Amino acid sequence: MLPDKMILSELIKGWGLDANNRGELIIGGCNTLDLGNIYGTPLHVVNEARLGATAESFLRTIKLKYPGEVSVHYAFKCNPVPGIIKIIKQEGIKAEVMSEFELKLALKLGYSGNDIIVNGPYKTDRLIEACIENNIRFINVDSLFELEKIDCISNTLNKSAEVLFRINPDFVPSGMNNGSAAGSRTGSPFGMDLKGGEVMAAFEQIKGMKRIRFRGFHFHIGSGIQDTDDYRKTLMGLKRILNYAEKSGFQVDVLDIGGGLGIPNSCEMTTLELLLYQAFDFLNSGVLANRKISFSHFADSVTKGVLSLFGNKKIPELILEPGRCITGPNQLLLIKVHQVKDRKGLKKWLIADAGIGTLTMPTYYEHHEVVLCNDTRRKASEKVTITGPGCFSADVVYRNKVMPKVAAGEILAILDSGAYFTSWESSFGFPRPAIVSVIKGRHSLLRERESFDHMISLDTL
Ligand SMILES: Cc1ncc(COP(=O)(O)O)c(C=O)c1O
Repeated sequence: MLPDKMILSELIKGWGLDANNRGELIIGGCNTLDLGNIYGTPLHVVNEARLGATAESFLRTIKLKYPGEVSVHYAFKCNPVPGIIKIIKQEGIKAEVMSEFELKLALKLGYSGNDIIVNGPYKTDRLIEACIENNIRFINVDSLFELEKIDCISNTLNKSAEVLFRINPDFVPSGMNNGSAAGSRTGSPFGMDLKGGEVMAAFEQIKGMKRIRFRGFHFHIGSGIQDTDDYRKTLMGLKRILNYAEKSGFQVDVLDIGGGLGIPNSCEMTTLELLLYQAFDFLNSGVLANRKISFSHFADSVTKGVLSLFGNKKIPELILEPGRCITGPNQLLLIKVHQVKDRKGLKKWLIADAGIGTLTMPTYYEHHEVVLCNDTRRKASEKVTITGPGCFSADVVYRNKVMPKVAAGEILAILDSGAYFTSWESSFGFPRPAIVSVIKGRHSLLRERESFDHMISLDTL
């Protein structure tokens, strides 16, 4: 059970939020109710100062702790809003992209090819061409099939490319969902199968490629990692392949450990929680408070892992690709309750202007706190099911969420909505919302609300 909601107005400080003397929720010096009135709901609100400070702190901490060269690349997929990327870029963080669209966006926002790392299991020929033409720093090779393609395209263009091998280390971080962990060889298709010998085969294959240069390894083990020691453990699993590379005459200059670090106040449901929630509507709401995740612990664990892996060999340049831990905690989503339906003795529904079909996809598999904006002091007293406007019964924000009594017209804030909310959103019957940033009591638009004209702009009428 979450700590008594009577003290939620105190707890919200842990999210960098505040409440005024009427108990109304304040972000970046702006009243959430005013923001809802000015821009309408649903509305994404970005805490600009806190986002910049988080990005700066991540970069500073890892640079301080790691004794070699470090390069940090923000994972665009996490929240690809230009206004957000610009804030992160200002702090000296580079770009990690996984599609032609993201690559174009990175170049448009002023990143040079050398500032960009390219990932993903779906690299089209056009994307690979664009990588080579724009002198992208590293293409992280996902498979033998892809390595062959990169070789072929670089020969056609008569231009070389530098690559890292993406390894699937078959490691599932603790407390994560086996079905989705990106470093599991049964749960995800990503990377070359270490246990199955694909990485060794890639070394054999690359020997015959005169324009492709191997520079090191990459892995990404999942998103929302709670125990920073999981990075060290994954690194330990690379000992044999590191030795194999050296024996085969390849030097590992670079180690890209992907992204994935979790955030303190929201987390993915475990496999068991997800099963119980999706099958029996059982929502565990006692999981959010006081989990300890810090950049400092993370940097220590990674440094320890790399130093131990490399022993007395020259330590590699370290690349990191954080997404969630930079943007996740620095945004919230305002949604309005349109009507309350109470089926006596059965269930209470809050029908709101956002659901997973439109805006809150991550609430399907993650725990997020939901706060009543106009009265953060109102005591939690009942379980409700918050649904969206999508006219299908799966369009749910949460089932059986412990909430105060909420009335029609009141506004809720879904906290920690800065990671994978804007990326997943759709225009299912409704326009996508505006995005505003707030800082020191001022607010400005990062993206305007979609209009009817935007929604039909590509259609033949
Ligand atoms: C290759 C890669 N790097 C980085 C990330 C960012 O992960 P996170 O947002 O959890 O930090 C992802 C996310 O899926 C990814 O696939």
